Amino acid sequence: MSTTSNSECVAVVGLGLLGRGIVACFLAHGFRVIGIDRSATQHAEACQQLGVMMGELVELGGFAPTLKDEWQTGYIAAQDFENVKECSFIVESVTEDIAAKEAVFDELESRLSPSIVIATNTSAIPISQLQQRRKVPARFVGMHWAEPAHATRFMELVRGAQTSDETLRVTAAMARRLGKEPCVCQKDIPGFIVNRIGYAMYREAMNIMQSGVADAATIDTAMRNAFGLWASVCGPLRWIDITGGPALYAKAMSHVVPSLSASPDVPKPIQKLADDGACGITNRRGFYNYTEEEARHWEELYRKHAWRVTKLQNEYFPLKQTT
Ligand SMILES: NC(=O)c1ccc[n+]([C@@H]2O[C@H](COP(=O)([O-])OP(=O)(O)OC[C@H]3O[C@@H](n4cnc5c(N)ncnc54)[C@H](O)[C@@H]3O)[C@@H](O)[C@H]2O)c1
Repeated sequence: MSTTSNSECVAVVGLGLLGRGIVACFLAHGFRVIGIDRSATQHAEACQQLGVMMGELVELGGFAPTLKDEWQTGYIAAQDFENVKECSFIVESVTEDIAAKEAVFDELESRLSPSIVIATNTSAIPISQLQQRRKVPARFVGMHWAEPAHATRFMELVRGAQTSDETLRVTAAMARRLGKEPCVCQKDIPGFIVNRIGYAMYREAMNIMQSGVADAATIDTAMRNAFGLWASVCGPLRWIDITGGPALYAKAMSHVVPSLSASPDVPKPIQKLADDGACGITNRRGFYNYTEEEARHWEELYRKHAWRVTKLQNEYFPLKQTT
């Protein structure tokens, strides 16, 4: 199995919201990158955004100022897969759709040596399902990034039913070289670790809303001031340990857990909004309505916050340097 050195070339397929940040992250860590997308418009937007991200990486992420002027020398924009055979690692980040991802895998498999890892950034498609039609399923692995991908330390690696130990080892080493903190999900369950826990929370938030206990703004304010305070320092299990411990929480849970929503359905409040085409700040309609200015405010506030939290996490929990 190949591992990359900093003069090596990687490919990122799909230059949407996530793919652009993934490209920026590889470039900042010294890799040459082929960015592949079939849409010329997406290429133009990605290039413009890459410039902005390089500025952030220098100004907020502590990368060398030369990155701002030099990143373009390491970047190749492509609309086809022709040059992919020189790459030693691939990240697929196209539309969340099985057919779209399989079409990309067909292209990659016909050009790459069987030892090259193909990591998919799917949010929810089972890796085992994506492996089913592949010639070399052992080299496929989930590599789940978080937005903004060039700033966050988050990374989930997902072992599909046929993923080899070597593929996971190579991918984890790559993640660490990119300044990420890889967390391995050893079983391919829907939602992996973080989204699965997140969806349980979103379902309960809507249950509370639907049953008239609190409206969206009240739920959001309470969560921001509670989870928002501790969630970047510790996870839910350590949070239990530092605020009373299992003895206290087990007692409290016995009163609350039986009343939690156990419905297997997508909750009505979100289904109705989805049916009405609400895409959140993208089209300014979601649980809240947004003016253009408000939508931009939330987008910028989150990006700024992600950098500040990452800085704090780096201060509290320094990452080990890898080469
Ligand atoms: N949005 C998030 O916060 C988030 C977080 C983690 C993971 N993901 C996952 O990352 C992936 C990409 O998400 P996104 O939000 O960046 O999507 P997006 O819709 O913004 O971008 C998808 C890109 O893929 C391109 N594309 C589609 N088919 C292609 C093909 N056959 N060849 C080349 N390019 C193709 C499109 O032109 C587009 O630029 C999805 O699997 C998504 O579930 C998203």
